[in-house]
Amino acid sequence: MLFDMEIDMSDESTTVPEKYRRDGAREYHNDHIVVYWEPRLCIHSRHCVRGLPEVFNSQRRPWIEIDAAMADEIAATVAQCPSGALSFARLDGGLEEVVPDETTVTPRPNGPLAVRGRLRIVAADGTLIREATRVTLCRCGHSENKPFCDGSHRCVGFQAP
Ligand code: FES
Repeated sequence: MLFDMEIDMSDESTTVPEKYRRDGAREYHNDHIVVYWEPRLCIHSRHCVRGLPEVFNSQRRPWIEIDAAMADEIAATVAQCPSGALSFARLDGGLEEVVPDETTVTPRPNGPLAVRGRLRIVAADGTLIREATRVTLCRCGHSENKPFCDGSHRCVGFQAP
């Protein structure tokens, strides 16, 4: 087992309005908010399941119960996800995620670099890999999803303050 929090990849996504569809993401929505989940980016930091367990519960299917809290609470919790595996859009005109003025890079103990800001991750050939406000970048060298962390640092016993 790679992670201590395994999530069944067979979760059924709901269908969101076309303009809010996001390729490669599972989508969970009601009339107020759509939450996107990109499993390949998840580092299982557990901010979501600890912060709003009535909505985010890895033992339940589907693991996101979008009607179990107010959209503002869900948005605030999603914005804490360091990897950006969780993101959201408001369908009711509510507040969107605030993009930080500054870019910050924070090493996570024995893990990746957590980066926040208005980010554009670009490949050496100029190809845009990702635009985001939150990413976690591998610093152990063992990720199978570089430049993003995939949790492999735990398997290899990566140590760094
Ligand atoms: S730091 Fe997480 S896989 Fe490298």
